[in-house]
Amino acid sequence: MSIENDFSLIKDYDNNYCLQVFNLLPVAFTKGKGCYLYDTEGKKYLDMIGGIAVNCLGYGNPKLTSAISKQAKDIIHACNYYYIPQKSELAYRLCRASFADKVFFCNSGAEANEAAIKLARGFFYYKDINKYEIITANMSFHGRTMGTIAATGQEKFSRPFEPNVPGFVHVPYNDIDAMIDAVNPHTAAIMLELIQGESGVHPADKQYIQEIRKLCNEKGILLIIDEVQTGVGRTGKMFCYQNYGVTPDIMTLAKGLGGGVPIGAMLCTNEVATGFRPGDHGTTFGGNPLACAAGNAVLTVFEEQNIIDNVREVSDELFEKLNTLRSKYNCIRSVRGMGLLIGIEFDDSITAQGMREQLMTMGFLVSAIGKSTIRLAPPLILTKAQAGSFVRALDKILKNVSGPKNVFSKIKDAFPSKKQVKDNVSKIGSAKIDKLDTLAATETKPAETPDGEDD
Ligand SMILES: Cc1ncc(COP(=O)(O)O)c(C=O)c1O
Repeated sequence: MSIENDFSLIKDYDNNYCLQVFNLLPVAFTKGKGCYLYDTEGKKYLDMIGGIAVNCLGYGNPKLTSAISKQAKDIIHACNYYYIPQKSELAYRLCRASFADKVFFCNSGAEANEAAIKLARGFFYYKDINKYEIITANMSFHGRTMGTIAATGQEKFSRPFEPNVPGFVHVPYNDIDAMIDAVNPHTAAIMLELIQGESGVHPADKQYIQEIRKLCNEKGILLIIDEVQTGVGRTGKMFCYQNYGVTPDIMTLAKGLGGGVPIGAMLCTNEVATGFRPGDHGTTFGGNPLACAAGNAVLTVFEEQNIIDNVREVSDELFEKLNTLRSKYNCIRSVRGMGLLIGIEFDDSITAQGMREQLMTMGFLVSAIGKSTIRLAPPLILTKAQAGSFVRALDKILKNVSGPKNVFSKIKDAFPSKKQVKDNVSKIGSAKIDKLDTLAATETKPAETPDGEDD
C-alpha cells in the first residue's frame, strides 16, 4: 500500500488524520537531489528555504546518507544508561569549534532552549543566589513548549495556552536602554537570537550585543544565545556569535546540525555546567547514535568541502544581486540578513504569500513571514548559478507588478483560501480513503524476513 505519488490521496489523508496545525501548501515532495526537490507530478523546484534552515547539505548528500544508513544497520538507539561513541565524538567536535566545554543533546530547538532555561536557573540555585528571571526580546521565537512560548516575545504563540510559565520579561530588540532598565536583582539570564528569523530576519546590531555582554559581566547575568536557526554555518561562520566578537555562556543549536535528522544541542561553559547535577535533566532519545552519526557526518562534510566558504561567497553574490534588484524596484523595501539567511521585505503592493506562491509556480521554494517578507534559508551548498536563477525569477515577477492587483490577484484562483480549504475538508467523504483500503487489501504481503538474518 502506498499513497506516495497520489497527491489527492496524500491531501485527503492529511486532512482527515493529521491534526490541522499547519497551513499547508498544495504540494508534496517525493524526492530531492542537491538543492532541488521533486513533487508527486515530477515538477522540479529549487529549494531556497531548505526545510526551514535544516537541510544544510541539501538532499541525498552521499557522506551523510551513507553515515545514516551505516549507523541504522549498526545501532539506531542505545539509551542514556550507556556511553555512546557517536555522542562523545560530536560533543568533542562541537566544543572544539566553539566557546563551549560541555554539550547536552536533545531532539529539537525548543528542547535545547528548555535545557538552557533550566540550566540558567539551576546555576544560581546551586549557588544559593535568588536569580531566576530571564529577559528575552519582543518578536523573538524560541519554540513551542510551555517554557519556550513564555520565553518567546510574541503573545500570539502563548495567548490560548495561558497561564504562562512565570519568570520571563520581554523588551524591545536592539534597544540597550530598555535592556538595562529591565535588569533587576532577580535577573538570571538574557536570552537572544542574533538574527530574529521567525519574525522577519532582523539581525541584532553588533554594538547592542557587545553592550549586552558587558552588562551581563557587570551584573553577573548569563548570556544565552539561541542559534537554533543561525548555527552550523548558516551565517558564514560556524556559529553566528562569531560574527559579533562576543561569546555566550550558553548556546542552543538544532536545525542544521543533523542535516535533516532531528537533533538539538545545548552548549555551555564548565562553570555554567554546574547548574545541572545528575538527574536534574535528561531525555530518552537525545544524543542517540543515529542523530549523532548524522551530526558527525555534517561536520565532516563542512570540513572536507569548505561549506562555510561557499556560504560566504554565494551570500556576497546573492546580496549584491538582490540589492541591485532593490535599486530597480521600489516595491522592495529591504534586503536583510547574513550568510544564507535572508529576508526580502516588500511594500504593500506585494504580499509575502502572493510572492511565495508566484515563486512556487515558477519552481522556487521560499517561506512567507508575516504580511510582507519572504525568507530564504537554502541549503548551504547552493551555487552562485542557482542563486542567480532565483534572482532572475524574482526579477521576472517584479517586472509584472505595477500595482496591488495584477499577478497577485491571480494567485487567489490558483491557491484555495483558508475558507475553501475548510469547506473542502468538511466535504471530503471516505471515497478516496476507501480506495486506499481496497488497495491495501488486494496487495500481497511481503515475505517475512527470518529471525537473525543480518541484511
Ligand atoms: C531561533 C529559534 N529557536 C527555537 C526554535 C524552535 O525549534 P524547534 O522547532 O526545532 O523546536 C526555532 C524554530 O524555528 C527557532 O528559529
